[in-house]
Formats: sequence, C-alpha cells, structure tokens
Amino acid sequence: MKLNSTVAAALLGLAPELALATPDSADRCCRALSKSTVGSQVVYPGSDAYHESVTSYWAVNVQLEPTCIVQPHSADDVSSIVQTLTAVSGANSNASSRCQFAVRSGGHMTWAGANNIEPGVTIDLSLMNSTVFEKDAGIASILPGSRWQAVYEYLEGHGVAVPGGRTGPVGVGGFLLGGGNSFHGARVGLACDNVVNYEVVLASGRIVNANAETNVDLFRALKGGSSNFGIVTKYDIKTIDNPNMWGGLVVFENSTTDQQIPALVKFIDNIENDPYASWIGLWQYNSTTEATTITTPLDYTKPEAFPAAFDDFYRIPNISDSTREATLFNLTSELQQAEGYRDVFLTSSYYNSEEILYKMIEILNSKIDEAIPLATGEDWSIMVIVQPWPKILWQKNADNGVGNVLGLDRFDENMLQVLYDYSWDSDADDALFHRLCEEAMAELDAYAKSIDMYNPYIYLNYADKTQNPLRGYGDENVEFIREVAARYDPEGVFQTQVPGGFKVSKA
Ligand SMILES: Cc1cc2nc3c(=O)[nH]c(=O)nc-3n(C[C@H](O)[C@H](O)[C@H](O)COP(=O)(O)OP(=O)(O)OC[C@H]3O[C@@H](n4cnc5c(N)ncnc54)[C@H](O)[C@@H]3O)c2cc1C
Ligand SMILES: *[C@@H]1O[C@H](CO)[C@@H](O)[C@H](O)[C@H]1NC(C)=O
Ligand SMILES: *[C@@H]1O[C@H](CO)[C@@H](O)[C@H](O)[C@H]1NC(C)=O
Ligand SMILES: *[C@@H]1O[C@H](CO)[C@@H](O)[C@H](O)[C@H]1NC(C)=O
Ligand SMILES: *[C@@H]1O[C@H](CO)[C@@H](O)[C@H](O)[C@H]1NC(C)=O
Ligand SMILES: *[C@@H]1O[C@H](CO)[C@@H](O)[C@H](O)[C@H]1NC(C)=O
Ligand SMILES: *[C@@H]1O[C@H](CO)[C@@H](O)[C@H](O)[C@H]1NC(C)=O
Repeated sequence: MKLNSTVAAALLGLAPELALATPDSADRCCRALSKSTVGSQVVYPGSDAYHESVTSYWAVNVQLEPTCIVQPHSADDVSSIVQTLTAVSGANSNASSRCQFAVRSGGHMTWAGANNIEPGVTIDLSLMNSTVFEKDAGIASILPGSRWQAVYEYLEGHGVAVPGGRTGPVGVGGFLLGGGNSFHGARVGLACDNVVNYEVVLASGRIVNANAETNVDLFRALKGGSSNFGIVTKYDIKTIDNPNMWGGLVVFENSTTDQQIPALVKFIDNIENDPYASWIGLWQYNSTTEATTITTPLDYTKPEAFPAAFDDFYRIPNISDSTREATLFNLTSELQQAEGYRDVFLTSSYYNSEEILYKMIEILNSKIDEAIPLATGEDWSIMVIVQPWPKILWQKNADNGVGNVLGLDRFDENMLQVLYDYSWDSDADDALFHRLCEEAMAELDAYAKSIDMYNPYIYLNYADKTQNPLRGYGDENVEFIREVAARYDPEGVFQTQVPGGFKVSKA
C-alpha cells in the first residue's frame, strides 16, 4: 500500500511540514539535477555507480534506495546541487512538493534515514575524499568523503597523525560533526575541538568558512551540532607530531569479567596521569560460536611497549595478543567491525563505577539468554562496548578558544560510555533485536538513575533515532544550536528538506 505523504507523516507523528517526499516530487528533483551543470554526476538505479554507492554503507539496514544519487567533486558542485534542490519547489511552496534530500559522507551511522533517503535525492560526498598536509601550518585539510584509514596513510608519509576514527573505514564527515573519540582524545580532546576551520555550503548555496575569526558562532555550533546548518565540504584540522604507536587487540575469556571491571575503573581514573593510553572493551556474544569473548584494543600513542598504564590488564590471562609497535594506520586497519549486517546502536553515559559495569554485563547476558530461543537468523551478535570518557577529554588540553556545543563542560567527573551494539543477518529479527537493545539501554539507564550514576550526555555519533542526543547537550546549547541554524538557514532547509540525522527542530 502506498500512503500519501501527509497521511504517512500523520501516522509517523510528524508535523505535516515534515512530510515525506513523494516519488513524483523526487523524480522532478532528479530531473532538475540531471539537467543542471552537475548532470553528469547524477546516477540512477541500475547503474554500477548507484549500486556501489548504496552498498557502501556499513549497515545493511541503512542501504535505502534513493530516487537518484548525486556525487559532487567540489564545494562548487555541492553549492549548485543545493541551489537546484531548493529551487525546484518553485511557486508551490508546500513542504511535500519541495525536494527532500540526504547527505552522506562515510555512511557509518546505523539508523535508516540518517544518511540516506527513499524516495528522494542522496548527496554522496564520497568522491570528495582527498587530504592535503600544510606543513608550515601543521594542518591537514581533509575532505568529508574521506575514510580515516586513507587520511592516516597519507599523513603518515609526512610523519604526522590526526585524531580520528579507531576503525579504518569510518567516515570523516559525520564523525567530526558529532564529536569524535580517538586514540589521542586524552591528549588533544575530542576530534571536533581540533578542527580550526570548516568550509560550509549553506542552504542558500553560499560557500563560507567558519573559524575563530569568521562566522565564529557557526564554528562553535559545528563542534557537535551535526547536520543542522549546512554541508561541510572541507575540514582543516590540527595535526599531531608522530603517527607511531604501540598497541593491538588483546582477547580474553568471558570468565575474566570480574577481573576486567575493577581494572577498568582504576584505569579510567588514571588516564589524566598518562593520557597516551587508550582502552576499549568489547564483550561480544556471537551466535555461530555460541560464546562471549572480551576483546580489548590496548593502544598507546607513542611507540613504547607495555606501558605501565595497562599493568592491571597484563595480569589477566589472555587468549590472544597482537600488541606491537605499529602506526596509527596499521592499528586502525586491524581494528575493524564486520560490515554487511543489520545493526542497531544505543548509547548512554554514566559516572565511572564498578556498579554500572557489573549491571551492564548482567543486562548483556540477560538479553543474550532472551535472544537465543527467539532469533531466527543464523549469524547474529549481541555486544556491549565500553569506553572511558574521562573528564580530560573536555578539560585541560581540549580548549580550542571557542568551546563546543556538547555541554560536557557542565560535568567535572570521569565518566564511561556504554554502547549496546547488536548485529544480525535476518530482517525477520529486526523487531526482536531493536526491542532487546532498547530494553537493555533503558534498564541500565533506570538502574544508573536509581544509584545516582546517570549522566544525561548521549554521544550523537552512536545514538539511535529513538534517542535525543542534542537534548543531552543541555538547554543552553540546544538554544544556541537553534539560533545558529536559524541565522545560517533562515528557511529551515536543513530542518525540513533534509530530514536525516538529529534535528534541533525535533530535539
Ligand atoms: C564500525 C564503526 C566504528 C566507529 N568508530 C568510531 C570511533 O572510533 N570514534 C567515534 O567517535 N565514532 C566512531 N563511530 C561512530 C561514527 O563517528 C559515526 O558513525 C559517524 O557518523 C561516522 O561518520 P560518517 O562520515 O560515516 O557519517 P554518515 O553516516 O555519512 O553521516 C552521519 C550524519 O552526518 C551527516 N553528515 C555527514 N557528512 C556531512 C557533511 N559533510 N556535512 C553535513 N552533514 C553531514 C549525515 O547527513 C548524517 O546525518 C564508529 C561507527 C562504526 C559503525
Ligand atoms: C502539496 O503539493 C503537492 C505536489 O504539488 C500536491 O500534490 C499536494 O496536494 C499539495 N498539498 C497541499 C496540502 O497543498
Ligand atoms: C577516493 O575515492 C575513489 C573512488 O572510490 C577511490 O578510488 C580512491 O582510492 C579514494 N582516494 C582515497 C585517498 O582514499
Ligand atoms: C559470561 O559470563 C557470565 C558471568 O560473568 C555468565 O553469566 C554468562 O553465562 C557467560 N556467557 C557465556 C555465553 O558463556
Ligand atoms: C598475553 O598473554 C601472553 C602469554 O601469557 C603474555 O606473554 C602477554 O604479555 C599477554 N599480553 C598482554 C597484553 O597482557
Ligand atoms: C600492519 O603491520 C603488520 C606487521 O606488524 C603487517 O603484517 C600488516 O600487514 C600491516 N597491516 C597493514 C594494513 O598495513
Ligand atoms: C560471528 O563469528 C563469525 C566467525 O568468526 C564471523 O564470521 C561473523 O562475522 C560473526 N558475526 C557477527 C554478527 O559479528
């Protein structure tokens, strides 16, 4: 059954002005693009380029089929695309007749519609993927469609690094707009705090720069404010001197959980004494092996073997250990997470404590037990990823002169971040895994609130569509994002015509 967009919007509880695109209006938008100066960059279903673009999203469930995809090569192309897509509505200015479009860089966000649209037009930035190192300024100019592993490989040739994704294929564009947690975070703060200039195409098609001197309000708002203001076509980011590190994956039996937890709480509180050390913990149950393993990427951002920061973890007997001296590129090439599954992520933040971690594991295990008899697919995984979120991430060396909109500066305690991450192969299990994952997060949140260990910050880059990460930035930041969005996009194009992602109009 095809619903008309106004009815569909009403069913989805959206305001009518956020109505979905109709196939008819999407066809008109694609035709207009095909006739424009970027016509040769528009691809349609059936072509190889279209197929390649659709299948290059990390999660299968976000591989929607847009009416057409446009693949710009430059900021000028993006500008002309935006001008075409905002002009097509013509005299008829009701929302469902306006072009609806999506913006994607690396395509790693895991909920359908964040970075893609169907029907509608997807602006795929993946051909804008080069990096230039400006040695004298110590700056890397990175285009949004780059993948971090390519950025690292290029910069390594110049003896430098940048704070970016810890899994090689992750995209640059979305990552830097939502914050960006890297191996270097405790040394230099979140990746977004290291961006010194953004080049942005506004809804009007105008190309502007935002930095500490020009468009300072936009500069600050882009540090966490995501897709609310325009399309970023270039990021200039401060480089770090040395790409050489020590690290790797250390894998443990599930039975070592009770040793990992106290070691982790201590590690998090010690990061301010040794900000070179980075630890991530992944407790993963895999249905094909019927076992839970604990994988811990231990990474040290200088080439020093077995640093004391991880001492408590070395005492726990491991199953395998790939630690070695290696570059950032090499380590992020190793640390990958299987693509090609249906995925859901939900995330929350808590104060650093053993109670939260024990509860996190108890909930993980109860959801595994619940899924085993109910899942119909062959290959699925239920995982919890825990990451230190020490206050040094937003204090001390993180200061960039203008701050950001994440609202972390309201807090003065070390935190930890929990990400429930479920992956499965069969769409028949969609409802099951979404329910279990949402319940897991809700149960941990409720427990944390009951012991006063809950923190309202929700990391946007891991958040699900059922969550409201912008609200977690605090009222003042939400108001600031709203004002900046209204100033740079007075017609609300990025609120109504670009429905994907976390929108301040819905926060
Ligand atoms: C396997 C995996 C590993 C990850 N590792 C890390 C990690 O180490 N650290 C970390 O902090 N996060 C990590 N993440 C989360 C990651 O930061 C987000 O998925 C992020 O969105 C990835 O950026 P992207 O370019 O792929 O985003 P996309 O999925 O392409 O886009 C995300 C959102 O940003 C918008 N957007 C994208 N580009 C632009 C642009 N140029 N201008 C305006 N809006 C834009 C999109 O419209 C969309 O709403 C990981 C995720 C996965 C799946
Ligand atoms: C909005 O425009 C579309 C396409 O032109 C049209 O079909 C629809 O009836 C209009 N809706 C309203 C509420 O005017
Ligand atoms: C940029 O993307 C193109 C097309 O996918 C690819 O061939 C090229 O290797 C990429 N460049 C870099 C630096 O990753
Ligand atoms: C993992 O260990 C926990 C105890 O921490 C146990 O309850 C659970 O059953 C184990 N899971 C598996 C799959 O062995
Ligand atoms: C893993 O175990 C091996 C064998 O006991 C040990 O030599 C190695 O140091 C351990 N690795 C880590 C990182 O603790
Ligand atoms: C990383 O380095 C190891 C040697 O330590 C090598 O075997 C491996 O191929 C390298 N990986 C990449 C992606 O370069
Ligand atoms: C489960 O493990 C198998 C074997 O290692 C692997 O191929 C598969 O990708 C894993 N499944 C998930 C959902 O991660």
